[in-house]
Amino acid sequence: MQELVDDPPPVVDGLRCRLPLLVDDHRATTRILRIAYPFLAEGGLGADGTYIGNDVFSGGSFVYDPWVLYQSRVITNPNVLLAGVIGSGKSSTAKALITRSIALGYKAYVPCDPKGEWTPVAEAVGGAVIKLGPGLPTRLNPLDAGSRPSGVLNDDWHRIVRSRRRALLGTLAESTLGRPLTALEHTGLDLAIDRASQLPAPTIPDVVAALFDPDAGQETSAVDNRELAHAIRRLVHGDLAGMFDGPSTTRFDPSLPMVTLDSSWIGAGGNDQALRLTLACASSWLEAAVTDPAGGKRFIVYDEGWRVMRDPALLRRMQEQWKLSRAWGVSNVLIVHRLSDLAAVGDLGSEARALAEGLLADCSTRIMLRQEPDQLARTATLLGLTDVEVATIAKLPKGRALWRLPSRSFVVQLVRHAREVELFDTDGRM
Ligand SMILES: Nc1ncnc2c1ncn2[C@@H]1O[C@H](COP(=O)(O)OP(=O)(O)O)[C@@H](O)[C@H]1O
Ligand SMILES: [Mg+2]
Repeated sequence: MQELVDDPPPVVDGLRCRLPLLVDDHRATTRILRIAYPFLAEGGLGADGTYIGNDVFSGGSFVYDPWVLYQSRVITNPNVLLAGVIGSGKSSTAKALITRSIALGYKAYVPCDPKGEWTPVAEAVGGAVIKLGPGLPTRLNPLDAGSRPSGVLNDDWHRIVRSRRRALLGTLAESTLGRPLTALEHTGLDLAIDRASQLPAPTIPDVVAALFDPDAGQETSAVDNRELAHAIRRLVHGDLAGMFDGPSTTRFDPSLPMVTLDSSWIGAGGNDQALRLTLACASSWLEAAVTDPAGGKRFIVYDEGWRVMRDPALLRRMQEQWKLSRAWGVSNVLIVHRLSDLAAVGDLGSEARALAEGLLADCSTRIMLRQEPDQLARTATLLGLTDVEVATIAKLPKGRALWRLPSRSFVVQLVRHAREVELFDTDGRM
């Protein structure tokens, strides 16, 4: 056997060409050998999960379920990263995974949908769509407490609600100011939230009012709070007025299979900062439902996620949420064009960059659709791909992807039903 493997020249014999076998030599007893058959195909990921399509190499069906695989320790967390050039089928793949998983009892929330393309999908599965934008009638109060999950004590619940409000307003302020808050501003914000929280249903204007006009004798003055107050005021009087500055006009119904937030009215002009602020408010509002560990298994989708990833404050929140996903039964699905989107958020060594690259590390499943040639080397290094895998992702047709799990990978062709083709279509609207 060994002599054969040592590089004999290919023998051309008629039209047949014999090449050396590229497999390791193997020793076994005759009892085993009489039934051994070398052409066994990879068994896929088992049969327990949502059908995605065909395993291109074995021809078998490919199924995937992040929670089943997490339980059987194939993956170390249930989060998913999807990357590929525009039109390679990223959204279609996510929509297929999610709509089919809904049939198995899972739910999905889409807080980031800047193109509004999840709207028909949510309607088709009996979910709800919240349309947000300047001039639209819907308003969300991101300071809503939400309903207390069963099993959480009242005192703990007050603490949770307070820290969620604090985290949101801190994120909003840092994001609009473009810098971290000072020590004085932190104190000012704490006191303003405490004062507003005495109201039964506090809103952002209540916090802004408390910042502009703090109680007499308080540790921080209106002067200390000035910049902070103006930064948060943007949500009340600025370009986002009317969306997050009063009581909610809609209620989050956690029993629905899908809730999406259509922000196509906001990001349309390429206004990514408005989109980021919207995502921060909306995801804080969703969090009340998401943090209930008894809420079942849920996907949270960030489609066109690269557009919201320029912001350290928001990234920090996303990462906290990512870390807790296992405890909450949540699988985060982040959709980007290329892995270098994660590096583009900041300079080497910057906090934003470390946070974005941390998100990649926190996604055990990486689904790579076609990548531009100039992205291949980088993708290969970041994911530790083999040469064969790199050559594969360079020429993947639409809807075919390399599914890369920690110790295994598959090339899978998405198979869609005629109804899904219609529902997931994004070319029609272009
Ligand atoms: N086999 C396929 N799998 C997925 N999408 C496909 C396939 N063939 C064609 N498409 C179409 O490609 C278009 C782009 O897909 P989409 O998922 O929106 O891409 P992306 O989100 O990567 O930009 C959609 O209109 C979709 O219907
Ligand atoms: Mg898309």
